[in-house]
Amino acid sequence: MSEEHGFSKGLAGVVADATSVSQVQGEVGRLIYRGISIEELAEKSTYEECAFFSLYGKMPNQNELNKFTTEMKASRVLPKAVEAVISAAPRSAHPMAILQAAISAIGFEEHPVNLKNEEMNIHSATKIISQLATAVARISRERRGLEPVAPNTDLSHAENFLYMLNGEIPNKDEARMFDVALILHLDHDFNASTFAARVVASTEAKLSLSISAAIGALSGPLHGGANEKVLEMADSIGAPQNAKAWVANALATKAKVMGFGHRVYRTMDPRAKVLRGMLEKLVATKKEKDTYETLRIVHDTMIEELSKTSKDYIWPNVDFWSGALYRLMGIESIDFTPIFAVSRVAGWSSHIIEMWRDNRIYRPAAKYIGPADEKYVDIKNRK
Ligand SMILES: CC(C)(COP(=O)(O)OP(=O)(O)OC[C@H]1O[C@@H](n2cnc3c(N)ncnc32)[C@H](O)[C@@H]1OP(=O)(O)O)[C@@H](O)C(=O)NCCC(=O)NCCS
Repeated sequence: MSEEHGFSKGLAGVVADATSVSQVQGEVGRLIYRGISIEELAEKSTYEECAFFSLYGKMPNQNELNKFTTEMKASRVLPKAVEAVISAAPRSAHPMAILQAAISAIGFEEHPVNLKNEEMNIHSATKIISQLATAVARISRERRGLEPVAPNTDLSHAENFLYMLNGEIPNKDEARMFDVALILHLDHDFNASTFAARVVASTEAKLSLSISAAIGALSGPLHGGANEKVLEMADSIGAPQNAKAWVANALATKAKVMGFGHRVYRTMDPRAKVLRGMLEKLVATKKEKDTYETLRIVHDTMIEELSKTSKDYIWPNVDFWSGALYRLMGIESIDFTPIFAVSRVAGWSSHIIEMWRDNRIYRPAAKYIGPADEKYVDIKNRK
């Protein structure tokens, strides 16, 4: 339909705006945040440093980083109305639905948008980045029937999140792995949730309401929901020895294998490589190895089988390994997509702030394919 009517279905390849926040170099499997490769940031940086870099467009010096970190820590406690929204949600609700409502509730008290006051908008974003982590931990604990854990200002963003989630100070190695996972998910140019955030913010809607739209987009299984689905897939495969036959069947029946494929990458997603490296280190320290083994066989079989077909451009994406890493940290799979939001919120905010410097409402055109001149038939004369 799209070719016949001269448009690009799913906006594939359409350049919708300009950005300096990040770039996905799909042909070579490279991702840069403001020019620096994510491999280098994952090795040398922290989530707080990357969030500052993303929001302000420059790497912080030590004083700037200290100030930013202090501001993030001071913002961690949720407004009472947000806590009330979380508590009012049924325990059966998906955490992304609760999170979307909770972040919308931040808008109850958020000041109206002032495009000219970028400093103020960055402070609002810093607060939302900080509070979204608290909200995700609280939603998870309430679902599990546990008391919420108050934030701990002695801890980094990653450490504090794991502490609020599990009620224990995490060990340094796992906290660092989690910090790296947050860095890897921070931004990814015009992915669906970022685009949703930009569309809403282009109307000059409040930051929280634009972020809330992005959360809705991220919740879908074709976007952020995929890592939860990858673990469901691993569980349904049952045991590593079933994995090869399972892949053969999936390919024969044209089923989509979660955690594979990408609109832009035509080779391995660089984030998948870093995540796999961390997962292998963590697996070596744990008794439970079956999930990793199952995924490893799915991974190798997919690459081998696809390389024999015209679909050799389908490679693992960021979601393939992240869920297995989080599971080994004791995190339930239903919390994986909210954790994606804990990281990506810095990217969403950075895109909005960038866009507001030179804003124009997003309003694309549609190819109308309906009838041109229908007659109105009175209801009593309709069949
Ligand atoms: C990411 C994704 C949505 C990209 O979608 P897209 O660019 O619109 O690509 P399409 O869905 O049109 O896929 C193109 C072809 O590759 C196949 N394909 C794409 N991803 C596949 C996968 N994960 N497993 C098996 N086949 C896949 C499609 O079936 C389609 O085949 P066809 O041409 O015979 O119909 C898609 O690859 C997908 O659904 N992946 C699984 C979900 C996932 O991991 N999402 C996280 C993304 S970071």
